[in-house]
Amino acid sequence: MSLSSSSGQSSLSGAISFGPPVATPPPFSETLKRLAKTRSVNFSKTLKPLIAHVSTSNPSSTGRSAVGASMVSMPAVKPSMLLDFETSVFKKEKVTLAAHDEYIVKGGRDLFHLLPDAFKGIKQIGVIGWGSQGPAQAQNLRDSLAEAKSDIVVKIGLRKGSRSFAEARAAGFTEESGTLGDIWETVSGSDLVLLLVSDAAQADNYEKVFSHMKPNSTLGLSHGFLLGHLQSLGLDFPKNISVIAVCPKGMGPSDVDGRATDVALGWSVALGSPFTFATTLEQEYKSDIFGERGILLGAVHGIVESLFRRYTENGMSEGLAYKNTVEYITGIISRTISTKGMLAVYNSLSEDGKKEFEVAYSASYYPCMDILYECYDDVANGSEIQSVILAGRHFYENGGLPAFLMGKIDQTRMWKVGERVRSTRPEGDLGPLYPFTAGVFVALMMAQV
Ligand SMILES: NC(=O)c1ccc[n+]([C@@H]2O[C@H](COP(=O)([O-])OP(=O)(O)OC[C@H]3O[C@@H](n4cnc5c(N)ncnc54)[C@H](OP(=O)(O)O)[C@@H]3O)[C@@H](O)[C@H]2O)c1
Repeated sequence: MSLSSSSGQSSLSGAISFGPPVATPPPFSETLKRLAKTRSVNFSKTLKPLIAHVSTSNPSSTGRSAVGASMVSMPAVKPSMLLDFETSVFKKEKVTLAAHDEYIVKGGRDLFHLLPDAFKGIKQIGVIGWGSQGPAQAQNLRDSLAEAKSDIVVKIGLRKGSRSFAEARAAGFTEESGTLGDIWETVSGSDLVLLLVSDAAQADNYEKVFSHMKPNSTLGLSHGFLLGHLQSLGLDFPKNISVIAVCPKGMGPSDVDGRATDVALGWSVALGSPFTFATTLEQEYKSDIFGERGILLGAVHGIVESLFRRYTENGMSEGLAYKNTVEYITGIISRTISTKGMLAVYNSLSEDGKKEFEVAYSASYYPCMDILYECYDDVANGSEIQSVILAGRHFYENGGLPAFLMGKIDQTRMWKVGERVRSTRPEGDLGPLYPFTAGVFVALMMAQV
C-alpha cells in the first residue's frame, strides 16, 4: 500500500482550494434542520440522507443552480447484492446493518478446534512475503494451528537474497525445520498459498505464481488488487485453483472443490478476526483503494498540508497552525467522530464556531466531491492500479533508468514544525475544537459517503 500513497496524496492536496466555490452546497445546519422537519431524525442517521439530498436531480428543490447540481449528480446506485455464504464448519449469524441483512462468522479461540476441519486436505500453508501482513499472519496461523493440535506446516517463502530471511528466522521459521525457504519452492509445495508480497510484485509475478501452484490448490490474497490488475488486462485467475481472500473485508471469488469458503473462514478465524463477513474481491479492491485515496493516504494529508499553509499565510504561528490542523484532526475530531459521530463535532461548537464551520464546509464540499469522483473513476477503470504498478517499478533499475526511491512524507515545513511542537509539549493534549478545520474535514468525509 505504501507504494501508492504518493499519487493519491498529491492529487487530493492539489485540488482543495478555498476560492469561491462553483456551487455552494446547502449549509450543514440548514440541511439538518430541513431533514429534521421532513422525517423523524435520529441525527446519527442523517449523514447519509444529507448526501442523497444534495445529489437530487431536481436542483430547484435546494435552490442550487443546475450547473452545480449536475456537477455532483451521483451515478445510480445499484442495489447492493446479497452476500450470503455457506459453511459446513462454522456457525453463521445474520446481522442487520442499515436495513440490510448480512451474514457473519464471529471469531474466537473457542473455534480453533474447528480449524483442522476447515483446513481439511491442507498439509502446508505457504506464506509468501514478509512485509506488514506476512509476519503477523504467519505467526498467528502457526500459534492457532498449534493450539488446535494441527500438524499443518506454516512455511515462509521469500525471494532469493531477501533480507527478510533473518527476520523470519528470528521469529522461529527456519530452513532446518522446513518452515522457511525459497519463494518458488514454497509456492509449488503448498496447498494454500498466501500471497503477501507487495501488490506491485504480485502484478509483476502473477504468471509465475500461477504456473508454480499445484492444481486444485488455493490461492489466498489479502487485497483485491491483483484481481483489478487482471481485469484491466482482460484476464482472470486460472480455473484449476481456488482463490480466496481474507482482508479487513473480503473473501471470494472462485472455488474449485466447494471448500474454499470454509478454508477462508478457517484462515480468518486462525488470524484472530473477531468478525468475518462476505464481500467480493472486486468490491474489496474498489472500496479499499478508493477509501485509502479518499481518506487515509491522500485526502487527510492533503487537507492538513493545505490548511497549514492557509493558516500560516494568514498570520497564524506555525506551532498553532500545526496544532489546529494535524493535531486537531488526529486528536479531538477523530475521537469525537469515532465515539459520538460526525454531528457531535458540529454540535460541540459555539454559535460563532458553527458559522465558521459552515463557511468551511460549504467551500470544501464540492471540490472534495469533485476530486473524490476522479479518485473513484481512476480506481474503477484500472488507472490507479496501473499507476501503482508503474510507480513500484521506479524503485528498481528499470530499462536502463536508475532506481528512484520513494521520498519521505515528513520532509515538508509542516512536518518539521510538528517535530518541534511534539517535542515541547506534553503528550495527550487534544487541543480545542477548531471550527474551520472541522468544516473542511467533515465536508471531505461527507463527500465520500
Ligand atoms: N487489507 C489490508 O488491510 C491490508 C493491509 C496491508 C496489506 N494488505 C495486502 O497484503 C499484501 C501484502 O502487503 P504488505 O504490506 O504486507 O507487504 P509489502 O510491504 O507491500 O511487501 C513486502 C513484501 O513483498 C516482497 N516483495 C517485494 N517485491 C518482490 C518481488 N519482486 N519478488 C518477491 N517478493 C517481493 C518483499 O520482499 P523482501 O522481504 O525480500 O523485501 C516483502 O517480503 C498486499 O496484497 C497488500 O495489499 C492488506
